Amino acid sequence: MTEMKKVSEMEPDEIKKAVRDAYSKVATGENPETGIISSCCDEPAQSQSSCCGPAPEAAKITRVNLADALGYDTEGMPISATESFAGCGNPVALASLKEGEIVLDLGSGAGLDMFVASKKVGEIGKVIGVDMTPAMIEKAKKNAKELGITNVEFRFGDIEDMPVDDNSVDVVISNCVINLAPNKGKVFQEAFRVLKPGGRVMVSDIVLSKPLPKEVSDEVVTYTGCIGGAILDKEYLQHMRDAGFADAKIASKAGESIHGAYSAYVTGTKP
Ligand SMILES: C[S@@+](CC[C@H](N)C(=O)[O-])C[C@H]1O[C@@H](n2cnc3c(N)ncnc32)[C@H](O)[C@@H]1O
Repeated sequence: MTEMKKVSEMEPDEIKKAVRDAYSKVATGENPETGIISSCCDEPAQSQSSCCGPAPEAAKITRVNLADALGYDTEGMPISATESFAGCGNPVALASLKEGEIVLDLGSGAGLDMFVASKKVGEIGKVIGVDMTPAMIEKAKKNAKELGITNVEFRFGDIEDMPVDDNSVDVVISNCVINLAPNKGKVFQEAFRVLKPGGRVMVSDIVLSKPLPKEVSDEVVTYTGCIGGAILDKEYLQHMRDAGFADAKIASKAGESIHGAYSAYVTGTKP
């Protein structure tokens, strides 16, 4: 049997390919445990709690249940909008979006956060989603059509090099994605570039309270599962400050795994 390559031996593009492959399977349901969380918010079986909140009794919950557990109102949402949900928080619930705002969702997946945000910004506002997994973009487009939502736009691209104009958005949201980017500093530089002055970044993500053991961070499946690529909370905030964000802070946190990984709601402002 060929041994799996270690994450520390992989080039950034190889890591991104592994991430894209994993989330293509989440989008298409190719995963052998379709509908069962086995990517973001998954935790090793011995864990007492998930980094996305208290461990569910049954240790495995479906993505639809996950959205409900995180406080999403999934009433009226097609199953295809929630079955590929892979977030670790509910950034839109906390993002104080206003009517008419332009919102950018980094790693928008099957579109759930975009659809919730689209209601808040209304017809005069707009929500743009960027994702590098074609199957996710396709699924999100299909979901938007089914829901009859027109103030959303899906763009294929890398959040380390966003296909978005300078100074063009009011709010950057993201749900459990930046941990997957090999170059987190670049993501925050890009978020800063595309935000208008006074714009806000409001993201849910997995961060760490202590360094991960090397054997954990080196596993590809742990990386694509949103834990292995997570960095220390203070380093995460430093990347934001280095990019130029003022008031970068962890506004709230939930859960904490045995490895010190937890779900954080992180905010900052472009002066
Ligand atoms: C854990 S899922 C989260 C999806 C969505 N935010 C949600 O809450 O359901 C991660 C998503 O981010 C996308 N992604 C990961 N790294 C990315 C990158 N560098 N650029 C663009 N999209 C990325 C993946 O394709 C996948 O759809």
